[in-house]
Amino acid sequence: MTIRQLSLTDFRNLASTTLDFHPRLNLVYGENGSGKTSLLEAIHVTCQARSFRSHQLRPCVRHDQPGFLLFARFGQFKAGIGNVGKKLQIRIDGENVARRSELVRLAPINLVNADTFRLIDGSPQQRRRFLDWCLFHVEHEYTEHWIKYQHALRQRNRLLKSRRDLQLLDYWDQHLSQPAEIIAGMRRKYCDRIVELLQGELAHLVDDLCIELSYQGSWDPGQGLAARLEALRQKDIKLGYTSAGLHRDDIHLTTNGRNCAEMLSRGQSKRLCVALVVAVLDIVGRCGSEPIILLIDDLGSELDQSAQNRVYKILAEMNLQLFISNISDTVPGVFETKEFKLFHVEHGIIRPRFSS
Ligand SMILES: Nc1ncnc2c1ncn2[C@@H]1O[C@H](COP(=O)(O)OP(=O)(O)OP(=O)(O)O)[C@@H](O)[C@H]1O
Ligand SMILES: [Mg+2]
Repeated sequence: MTIRQLSLTDFRNLASTTLDFHPRLNLVYGENGSGKTSLLEAIHVTCQARSFRSHQLRPCVRHDQPGFLLFARFGQFKAGIGNVGKKLQIRIDGENVARRSELVRLAPINLVNADTFRLIDGSPQQRRRFLDWCLFHVEHEYTEHWIKYQHALRQRNRLLKSRRDLQLLDYWDQHLSQPAEIIAGMRRKYCDRIVELLQGELAHLVDDLCIELSYQGSWDPGQGLAARLEALRQKDIKLGYTSAGLHRDDIHLTTNGRNCAEMLSRGQSKRLCVALVVAVLDIVGRCGSEPIILLIDDLGSELDQSAQNRVYKILAEMNLQLFISNISDTVPGVFETKEFKLFHVEHGIIRPRFSS
């Protein structure tokens, strides 16, 4: 789903404005500290009601103001996000919505920024999130199972922490295991799909290295999570939390049996990180006809020119609405012949410039 227009008020350092975007390609340029990342962040918050820079939305509010407001027109709906005081308000077509996931489902959005390049050597949580983005948009039952899992996990941890009513652990072990087995199965399936792409269409992005992804579950699928939880029960009671489950799993990346984080050069590892994002975009993109919004923040500070060109060449062929930030107004070669909109950001003021 493309975002056609965005009105922003009191968001970070940005001057209040209304912007009309190009359905395919938007280039944002300006000096360091001008507000480029803030504009991409505003788009992200509009689609997800969540920032990629801070856990809370409070830091997004312009200094000395009570809150920010974002209002956007998408292809088929309108959305408004307000953060005034401590309250987050999400409206879709004028109606308040209680669940963030209702908004998130409507306009899939992904991001390439400095954090993306930690995907291989960063935390297991980052890798799980990367994979779950794909599941969320492709597998319709994912959210329902995820909510059940989170609920059971909270209840189980509460018992373990308080060490009371421990006879209820059997009950919660079952309720934790059922959705966990289903989601772990989905995660394994999508790891395999990503491998197919990395070894096929996207192999040239990673120097034709044979990349493998293996899902590292915290329990043996043959035995099941319920059995594992039972075996770990005394340990979990001592720890006061659940030490196996979806929230403890990881994805291992290897090439010829060796750990990618230790094997690949810095440049190769960065290109693999981008290739992983391209792979999930491809998988989600194939499931729908609407473009996915992709924010690319300052790729030039991470990849050399030739690697950037390779990445842009692939992205230009995909069904995406791109927002690309850069220090200079140089248009990446592959986009020179395409239509786009250019936005200049200076001290928080965003001005549309010449468009092709
Ligand atoms: N809540 C806020 N209110 C006002 N200004 C803010 C707020 N949060 C951040 N800023 C300021 O906004 C400015 C723009 O930051 P931003 O990260 O968007 O710049 P940028 O153009 O992406 O810079 P760079 O090229 O260095 O990445 C910074 O000077 C920052 O200090
Ligand atoms: Mg920036």
